[in-house]
Amino acid sequence: MIANKKTISQILAKKAQGAKISMLTCYDYSMAKLLSNTDIDMLLIGDSLGNVKLGFENTLPVTIDNMIYHAQAVKRGNNKALIVCDMPFMSYEISIEDALKNAGRLIKEGGANAVKLEGGAEIADRIAAIVAAKIPVQGHLGLTPQAINQFGGFKVQAKEKDDQDKLMEDVNALEKAGAFSVVLEAVPQDLAAKVSKETKMAVIGIGAGKYCDGQVLVLDDMLGIFEDFTPKFVKKYADLAGTIKKAVNQYIEDISNATFPAEENIYK
Ligand code: KIV
Repeated sequence: MIANKKTISQILAKKAQGAKISMLTCYDYSMAKLLSNTDIDMLLIGDSLGNVKLGFENTLPVTIDNMIYHAQAVKRGNNKALIVCDMPFMSYEISIEDALKNAGRLIKEGGANAVKLEGGAEIADRIAAIVAAKIPVQGHLGLTPQAINQFGGFKVQAKEKDDQDKLMEDVNALEKAGAFSVVLEAVPQDLAAKVSKETKMAVIGIGAGKYCDGQVLVLDDMLGIFEDFTPKFVKKYADLAGTIKKAVNQYIEDISNATFPAEENIYK
């Protein structure tokens, strides 16, 4: 392990000190390499790659082999951040054995440091087994995109008292199963604040307000690359889609008027 590689103890120490934890999704070598020049704490090979990189309507078609392929590329580009890899839909639902085998592949073949699973008490046995196999686990509660067919759309979760109580039960189940962290997606800020206060796990919010222990965003959303759909919780830090389109149009124009290649681009 390299000297400045981020560790789970450092992530948890940040929570203990009240220092905020930063996380972004990442799916390929070039972005991972760029991000190795930043101080980002965690990189997530999210199954959101199904939407933003593979053009699927949702994350359900993503396979364990897709995840391994992208994790390997990220790993080659970044030796600094803690690398978490999503377990895709149906890679952990069937049995403990299946969950263990697939989590193991993300670590052994993909090079991830931890895995992320969507769900609460109903998957606590699988999380406990994965943790017992020495694989760190991050949970994911609230809006869990793999349950899109049950939710019937992407909307704010746990607005009612009963749903908030259930979410707290799930948080406790994940903590008891040994998860070191949990992503909370699209839940009211007050609920996320309560979770962050009451659990030992590092709570990483996405659309969960500002009182979480840290924040995560989809890289292509925050850089303004992905234009299909932008949730309310996304802050766009750049307009790379605009920059890319402008650059490509300039390139086409330069070819048309023969100003590219210029003298400095030509071998003599
Ligand atoms: O797949 C993903 O990108 C995620 C984040 C939205 C947390 O799970």
